[in-house]
Amino acid sequence: MALRSSNRGRNLWAVGLLEVEPTDRVLEIGFGPGIAIRELSRRTTQGLVCGIDYSEVMVRQATKRNTDAVHAGRVDLRCGSVEHLPAFEEPFDKVLVVNNMGMWGEPVERLKEIHSLMRPGGRIAIVSQPRCPGATTETTVAAGHEIVACLTAAGFTCIRSDTLALKPPVVCVIGEAIPHFKTILSTIP
Ligand SMILES: C[S@@+](CC[C@H](N)C(=O)[O-])C[C@H]1O[C@@H](n2cnc3c(N)ncnc32)[C@H](O)[C@@H]1O
Repeated sequence: MALRSSNRGRNLWAVGLLEVEPTDRVLEIGFGPGIAIRELSRRTTQGLVCGIDYSEVMVRQATKRNTDAVHAGRVDLRCGSVEHLPAFEEPFDKVLVVNNMGMWGEPVERLKEIHSLMRPGGRIAIVSQPRCPGATTETTVAAGHEIVACLTAAGFTCIRSDTLALKPPVVCVIGEAIPHFKTILSTIP
């Protein structure tokens, strides 16, 4: 998986769209071989990168790929599922999900739980490059619409999409966790 150039291109592009700051705390769900984790840790020199993946094989591969940062305590990779997210000490500024949301049961519920782990105004990027046989631009467009609908239903705001011209194209949908003042306003009758 890690050796495919489309994987690398897709992951590096997605990390760029997250606009990660050096002090950010970032969570990646379904990190696979850890390509994006490595790029995220390169950018969060004073922050922290956490990752959850339910495959022990992937956790081993990603840990190997990021050995120095793991030993330095700047990368924390855990075997676990998005359906049972662990508790984290502090909220995340950024969340990344690449080619993984399509595998979740009840994605809107999962996104609501992720939202609760994020700092108000924090950013999420959900990326999809459909890998099913015969996938076309239309498949990518449909995947993008589905992600937008799920993020909206889960309460994210400022939702927008970007596309990377691979074959088939990659869509990245960005959303923001609702800022505190909007939460407060929405409770005023
Ligand atoms: C298609 S791979 C993508 C890997 C990586 N994001 C990339 O683009 O290179 C999907 C990854 O998500 C993980 N995964 C699938 N379902 C998951 C779940 N419910 N919770 C956590 N991880 C999951 C798999 O183990 C796998 O590593």
